[in-house]
Amino acid sequence: MTELPIRPDTPWLAPLAGWSDLSFRLLCREQGAAVCCTEMVSAKGLVYGGRSTESLLATTPEAGETLEDGSCVCDRPLVVQIFGAEAAFMAQAVERLRRRGFCWFDVNMGCSVPKVTKTGAGAAMLRDMDNALRVAEAVLQAAGPGRVGFKLRLGWDGEHEVHRELSSRLAGLGAGWVTLHPRHAVQGFSGTPRSLALAELAALLPVPVIASGDLFTAADGVRVLRETGVAAVMYARGALRDPSIFARHRALLAVGELPDRAELPPRETPLAAQDACDVLDELPVDRVRLAGIIRRHAFLARRYAPREALFKMRTVVPRYVKGGDGARVLRQELVACRSWMDVDAVLEKHFGDHCHE
Ligand SMILES: Cc1cc2nc3c(=O)[nH]c(=O)nc-3n(C[C@H](O)[C@H](O)[C@H](O)COP(=O)(O)O)c2cc1C
Repeated sequence: MTELPIRPDTPWLAPLAGWSDLSFRLLCREQGAAVCCTEMVSAKGLVYGGRSTESLLATTPEAGETLEDGSCVCDRPLVVQIFGAEAAFMAQAVERLRRRGFCWFDVNMGCSVPKVTKTGAGAAMLRDMDNALRVAEAVLQAAGPGRVGFKLRLGWDGEHEVHRELSSRLAGLGAGWVTLHPRHAVQGFSGTPRSLALAELAALLPVPVIASGDLFTAADGVRVLRETGVAAVMYARGALRDPSIFARHRALLAVGELPDRAELPPRETPLAAQDACDVLDELPVDRVRLAGIIRRHAFLARRYAPREALFKMRTVVPRYVKGGDGARVLRQELVACRSWMDVDAVLEKHFGDHCHE
């Protein structure tokens, strides 16, 4: 069985509902993401064959493909994240996915959005360990041991932490890895992730632990690797802000061992109770690199999702251009674009020569 890269030097792209579609995954892979996760996919939607579910599973052929501009793209290794609270549906979903050639899976036990938790799925699974284990067993049987990861939070709230017991039992059942976002479900994204919990879990489990949570820069990722001993890190909002976070992560590690604390820039704090993306507003991004990333994302989006691509660009690109001179104007102009010609004109105006590299 081929193995998934789960190492300090193989950063992952997190599952990001509404964002980690095929074009964004390919962009992140080109920037150095070693493994990408799909957006979360409903097991029931998959079994009943919903059209929106289908679009979440869009990918390249396994061997990759050559695009019109001569570049080669390949959306592998790919982890399909599924959610659902019913073991039978979850197992059926995996069987269907396997028949279609998907071979790595992740079970969402961390999403705290009410639309998901009210069905008993996502982080609500942390409130019913027996059912969580039933689901895990069914999924592992359908996928094969080592083929499934589980993405959890610490527990539903501070009174009910289950991550240690649940993840130990998941490992005992044959989980391939566990991803921990060390906050409680009720916290959403507020407060500070408890990195000590990552260290404890990494020491406790016989399978690799992947860290998620407030990794907004490559330095944050490297810091958590060094401070907690986790096997790998997963970038989420940090990648939405700047997909080159993966290349930066690899570059930091390539300079040698994990650098000492003193060599790393200070963390952007405090992050409590606010969308951390706001904090990132302060960080300027190199214009040449930014122009290249925007053009490439637009190209990939037009190629793989022509109907939604324009809308995507109007929502995705403003995330890249937080901070720096003229960012507010650029954002406003992009959001007002009605056609690709409009987008091209705005990019040309703001980035000039850098648009066509
Ligand atoms: C817009 C958005 C969509 C997300 N979608 C998913 C999802 O589909 N599945 C999942 O397990 N986590 C999802 N997450 C959680 C992230 O994968 C990640 O665990 C979380 O954002 C913490 O990492 P960060 O603080 O570095 O962003 C989402 C987060 C955001 C911000």
